[in-house]
Amino acid sequence: MPMNNDTEFRPKIVAFCCNWCSYAGADLAGSSRLAYPADVKIIRVPCSCRVNPMFILRAFEKGADGVIMCGCHPGDCHYTSGNFYARRRMTLLFSMLDYIGVENGRTRVEWVSAAEGVKFSQTMNEFVAKIHSLGKNVRLEDLRCKN
Ligand code: FES
Repeated sequence: MPMNNDTEFRPKIVAFCCNWCSYAGADLAGSSRLAYPADVKIIRVPCSCRVNPMFILRAFEKGADGVIMCGCHPGDCHYTSGNFYARRRMTLLFSMLDYIGVENGRTRVEWVSAAEGVKFSQTMNEFVAKIHSLGKNVRLEDLRCKN
């Protein structure tokens, strides 16, 4: 019987999921009994373009080890073009995060439709494994209160 090791690294993962596709994909994964780690904390947003870059910085500031944003496939956004804006915004943000010391592997964008419960589960398992291999993240500090 495996021993429970309390000192084992358990990454904190934040997953922003759009309501219309990715959250439904997560729901399908759950109802299909497809496993993904409980370390993934899902935040449901109306659309991927609702994810302000500050949300991701805030997640890292609060101790997240990895942040993933999931939305509808390009062309399938419920609001027509929200995910195109989100994709551009995240590309820019992720390059800046790399510059301030958060490695590229700690962030990811994935398109998951409501019918892709398997993809959702696989993506989360892969992402958690990647963050596990990268180890604990350095916590970003809130620079607003510093002179
Ligand atoms: Fe899913 Fe816009 S509603 S990405």
